[in-house]
Amino acid sequence: MASTAKRVCPVTRPAEAADSEQMAEMARDAYGKYLDLVDEPPAPILLDYEKVAASGRSHVALIDGHIHGMVTVESDDTYLILRNLAVRTTSQGRGVGKFLVAFVEEMARSAGLRGVRLWTRAEMTDNIAFYKRLDYVLTHSERNEGSHRVFFCKEFS
Ligand SMILES: CC(C)(COP(=O)(O)OP(=O)(O)OC[C@H]1O[C@@H](n2cnc3c(N)ncnc32)[C@H](O)[C@@H]1OP(=O)(O)O)[C@@H](O)C(=O)NCCC(=O)NCCS
Repeated sequence: MASTAKRVCPVTRPAEAADSEQMAEMARDAYGKYLDLVDEPPAPILLDYEKVAASGRSHVALIDGHIHGMVTVESDDTYLILRNLAVRTTSQGRGVGKFLVAFVEEMARSAGLRGVRLWTRAEMTDNIAFYKRLDYVLTHSERNEGSHRVFFCKEFS
């Protein structure tokens, strides 16, 4: 998806308790387009953002001091797992998502991990295109009751 929107240069910082409301609102906004696509609301919409913000594993992307994106990570000792990446709809297509993925990759490299892994839902075809664009390799998919997950990985060379 080529975008003509002006690229932005965000900065990141760890999420704080005071960010929780904005993070919850951003999840509803960003994942809202999937409400009609999947049977139940996407999991990130249902999270308790007071806990997410306080987890120490979430980061926000700021443009001019305002939150426009967020991401959460988990480590499995070999890879960093990228979870819940979201960008405000009004800021999408301007490089914020790519910036946050690069930020996660840098965290993984600094920690001496092998790469970054993530999964998304098969119905979320925009995400599949996005991660492929960022050189993530689709490794496998899993169908469970009511969900079809697609797994991606980027291994550092
Ligand atoms: C997915 C998401 C995080 C992408 O963030 P974004 O800021 O809009 O993406 P960027 O502007 O950084 O795009 C980075 C690159 O991916 C490409 N891209 C983005 N969306 C794309 C799509 N749907 N199809 C193809 N390419 C896409 C862009 O063109 C850009 O390519 P370029 O660097 O060559 O110009 C954002 O759309 C979002 O919040 N979606 C809803 C929440 C969600 O589903 N999150 C993912 C959970 S796994």
